[in-house]
Amino acid sequence: MIDDPTATDTLTAALRQASTVAVLTGADISADSGVPTFRDPQEGLWAGFRPEDLATPEAFERDPDRVWQWYRGRRQQLAEVEPNAGHYALARLAERLGDLRLVTQNVDGLHQRAGHGDVIEFHGNIHDNVCHRERRVVDADDDCDTAPHCPRCQARVRPGVVWFGEEIPPRALASALAAAEACDLFLAVGTSAEVYPAAGLADLAREHGARVAVVNPDAAAFGAHTDIAVQARAAEALPRVVERLDAACRR
Ligand code: APR
Repeated sequence: MIDDPTATDTLTAALRQASTVAVLTGADISADSGVPTFRDPQEGLWAGFRPEDLATPEAFERDPDRVWQWYRGRRQQLAEVEPNAGHYALARLAERLGDLRLVTQNVDGLHQRAGHGDVIEFHGNIHDNVCHRERRVVDADDDCDTAPHCPRCQARVRPGVVWFGEEIPPRALASALAAAEACDLFLAVGTSAEVYPAAGLADLAREHGARVAVVNPDAAAFGAHTDIAVQARAAEALPRVVERLDAACRR
């Protein structure tokens, strides 16, 4: 894997200098744990489906049980994976830097399982059960093949994720915008930064004077406005950054 030690050093120095850091993570920080992404080809029963056609409110309203079963399968896959070195390194960075706000587009809860306390979940969390009508988290018996019913209003229950065409939960949106505006370093990891509104957070941070760093093995992810480009996998680059920060503090 291509990795430029100078870029890693530049990122380490920028993290040391920054007083407030905002981090945006995307699907491929979890791909290093073996979590299938929306872009991966579907397998088995789902081979003929496009996730974009299952992850919509219209698909759920048309056939709640089919959508529920697909998400049930994703929940089962997640039960078998563990956070990776990239998740752990970000949790360690948050402890070390004090003012680091993490916004994730991932719904898998792996940052929290790696010990990251305060995570802004931009696209929700797949493990929550939410009443599709009332949009609140409910207690539902989810160990079944059909979408359960809300114990209060009897509407169907769905996973607590943001589907295509739906709004970002207002509290997560407000926290993410505040984090982007306040930071002096914005770090994007494992995201193509193509899906809005998350993709706009780096621009917002830049407009408020932040430097923008990107960790991604694909150079296509580095836009004209990327100040620090680390061309490497998250699970390789982030632990190295933490090691360097730790070493610098021991000196
Ligand atoms: N470490 C870091 N980055 C990686 C790695 C890795 N090991 N492997 C691949 N990448 C990069 C890819 O080069 C790509 O630029 O991560 C990026 C992943 O981009 P997307 O697949 O577009 O994922 P994401 O940005 O999270 O997508 C946003 O779209 O699929 C929907 O709702 C879903 O939240 C998701 C949203």
